[in-house]
Amino acid sequence: MCPGSFDPVTNGHLDIIGRASRLFDEVIVGVLINQSKTGLFSEDERIDMLGEVIQGYDNVRVLTFRGLLVDFCRAQEAGVVVKGLRAVSDFDYELQMAQMNIGLAGVETLFMPTNPLYSFLSSSLVKEVAKWGGDVSPHVPDLVAVRLRERLGPPPS
Ligand code: PNS
Repeated sequence: MCPGSFDPVTNGHLDIIGRASRLFDEVIVGVLINQSKTGLFSEDERIDMLGEVIQGYDNVRVLTFRGLLVDFCRAQEAGVVVKGLRAVSDFDYELQMAQMNIGLAGVETLFMPTNPLYSFLSSSLVKEVAKWGGDVSPHVPDLVAVRLRERLGPPPS
């Protein structure tokens, strides 16, 4: 299980998804639908972008979930959550969640060090840079760069 908000998917996410697809027979990309948090992209738009960018991976599929990740894992019979760690700063919170998830339901978490190319990358940063007209094309799939530009309009002058 590769869970996240994916608002939008970045090359960092794709790196982890691709590596997980080589380690496991089957990978589910679990898109958290958080009704109390409005994203830049809707649930359908995020799924659509993810669906496009994972097309090369035969053993990866995209599903949405609400509520607890462990309940979704149980429903999908997924025993392992795969998370990318970009830096030590990610570790504290990720460790807490991993320990909670194993306590709640015995769901294991596998931490993967991100490719150093993406160690500074996050969806929030990509949105911020795109909003002010910066070039995000090295950091997201082409399709996502186009959708960001369509959504955010031309950069402010
Ligand atoms: O891409 P994000 O927003 O960093 O992903 C965070 C996510 C979705 C993996 C995390 O918030 C999560 O698992 N949310 C589901 C709710 C849940 O299970 N919370 C308890 C975690 S111990």
